[in-house]
Amino acid sequence: MESFRNRLDKNNIPKHVAIIMDGNGRWAEKHGKARVFGHERGVESVRSVVEGAGEIGIKYLTLYAFSTENWERPKNEVDALMELLVQAIEMETESLMKNNVRLSTIGNIEAMPAKVKEKLEGCISFLDSNTGLNLVLALSYSSKWEIINAVKNLVQDSIDKKIKPEKINNELFEGYLNTAKILDPELLIRTSGEYRISNFLLWQIAYSELYFTEKLWPDFRKEDLWEAVFDFQNRERRFGKTSEQLIS
Ligand code: FPP
Repeated sequence: MESFRNRLDKNNIPKHVAIIMDGNGRWAEKHGKARVFGHERGVESVRSVVEGAGEIGIKYLTLYAFSTENWERPKNEVDALMELLVQAIEMETESLMKNNVRLSTIGNIEAMPAKVKEKLEGCISFLDSNTGLNLVLALSYSSKWEIINAVKNLVQDSIDKKIKPEKINNELFEGYLNTAKILDPELLIRTSGEYRISNFLLWQIAYSELYFTEKLWPDFRKEDLWEAVFDFQNRERRFGKTSEQLIS
């Protein structure tokens, strides 16, 4: 069958796609392996999807790599995930450079182990002048954490008389979120047949199209991303308006 890439409308590529990468553990179980194998294979999916996103001109790709709640997993799994992140950064930096990818993070990066922070900072500054895809890793991220943090800073600025409460609107509030400089995702993908948002970008997905697939993350490849974008392009986005209003 023809690749979804060739069937895409090049004038309607979403600028920002966010992905909840789920199903690594189930993939490993299905293959009779320890959970960490699923995460390892998940890194290959990350590579493929990052390439595929750049190839069709997506500007921002946000990946939910580690949630605030993931800290509650067994210590050996958390340690393995942190080690995998360090390795992935080491292994992938050169190819990210070749693909003109920039890197940034959202989430409570302070909570990450020193080694991860160090590798991330190095990679971020190395890729800083790139102009292609912006890869955003959500690490120790949860949307409620982000919103509470924004409220704390907003209240402090109000106490410090930097802002007036009557000036608070969507735009001003968004400036306090981790995603302040990033436009909202038009498309949110979740793999593994779970129909949940799991505390991811709750504010930012107010009008996003949601796409759920049964595929487990380790089996997800760029072709699957293109299929999701194709599906997105065949939806009508109304933003609360009627179909007739969109035509006129
Ligand atoms: C969800 O599967 C996946 C994660 C919690 C971690 C995602 C991490 C990676 C793919 C590797 C590192 C990432 C980068 C960006 C290099 P799960 O463990 O919840 O699966 P399950 O629901 O089947 O148990």
